[in-house]
Amino acid sequence: MIYFDNAATSWPKPPEVAEAMFHFLNEVGANPGRSGHRLAVESGRIVYNTREAVAEVFNAPDPLRVVFGHNVTEALNLALRGLLRAGDHVITSSMEHNSVMRPLRALERQGVEVTVVQCSPEGFLDPADVEAAVQPNTVMIALNHASNVVGTLLPVAEVGRIARQHDLLLLVDAAQVGGAYPLDVQADAIDLLGFTGHKSLYGPTGTGGLIVGERVDVARMEPLKRGGTCSHSEHEEQPDFLPDMYESGTLNAVGLAGLEASVRWVLERGVDAIRAHEVELARRLMSGLRDIPSTGSGRRPGVTVYGGMDANRQAATVSFHVAGMEPSEVGLRLDEEYGIMCRVGLHCAPVAHKTIGTFPVGTVRFGLGALNTLEEVDAAVAAVGQLAQEAQ
Ligand SMILES: Cc1ncc(COP(=O)(O)O)c(C=O)c1O
Repeated sequence: MIYFDNAATSWPKPPEVAEAMFHFLNEVGANPGRSGHRLAVESGRIVYNTREAVAEVFNAPDPLRVVFGHNVTEALNLALRGLLRAGDHVITSSMEHNSVMRPLRALERQGVEVTVVQCSPEGFLDPADVEAAVQPNTVMIALNHASNVVGTLLPVAEVGRIARQHDLLLLVDAAQVGGAYPLDVQADAIDLLGFTGHKSLYGPTGTGGLIVGERVDVARMEPLKRGGTCSHSEHEEQPDFLPDMYESGTLNAVGLAGLEASVRWVLERGVDAIRAHEVELARRLMSGLRDIPSTGSGRRPGVTVYGGMDANRQAATVSFHVAGMEPSEVGLRLDEEYGIMCRVGLHCAPVAHKTIGTFPVGTVRFGLGALNTLEEVDAAVAAVGQLAQEAQ
């Protein structure tokens, strides 16, 4: 079996992840921060260690500004819905996932002004277009770091500089590249970074969060939910300090135990080394797909690959079409006949497909990860080549 669906969720996970979760469930078990006995203290320590590990991978200076939630969708909702008010203007791109677009469209109905800056058909964003969209009422720029459809990297650091010049907040959806690309919230001037544990951080589902930078006025950022935090329990009002003000309710402590192990695994392997491996995989995959012979008397390419076709400017996520075959059929046949797991369709990012010209059919997407190999890439290219030949 070849697992090329890492852009949806990474698999397999490093063995340390299940081991840490097994240990937590069998040896620790208690509610973090809720009680004073030794097991609760140990549970709280594991959660804090996970904050430290996440802070380290993104070079965030203060682990207590790592707010945990269930996934990046929750984190992005917290940042967008928590900070934007009627009359505010926010800038985003035409390569976003619905986890940014849907909260923004809902906020638009409540009076928030939204500008979607058009990206190129390859999925690239020109920072000058972002700057040109700044208005007197702009408060935030919200961007993903890498497209989940074609993998193209958006110029986050350049946009970070623009955001600082205009005194705006930069919110980055790091779902696709957190752990697979060297991201640095300080050097890249990122004020709010949403991460999800189960993709390129190799942790379990149900983990993720928001790193809240010093420039964010937390007194203005409304929590998505309020409730028990086990801090300041004498008050009926929500605490006003990080991370408690945004972490009401029992945390997914067993998931966070797994996340600590996975982030430590990423750090040990090295983000730069993971990045270099994924660039090599993506380069081999794109050139292999591009070299699949033309079909229909050579009039049309057997396979069309979308995106910038430059492995150095993208994550290891590659979208393509096989001429004469629907993406859904390609996905089904790859699974049933070749044991290749991938994802087809719109990948929850309709605006990105409109940008690259593949809406509403979508694409076949290969999402490669740190544990994939060049041999798997070659086998998958051969399988796609066979399908393209049959589709003639
Ligand atoms: C760019 C991007 N943003 C957000 C998400 C949402 O991730 P999650 O489901 O973990 O919240 C995804 C997942 O596919 C994604 O690729």
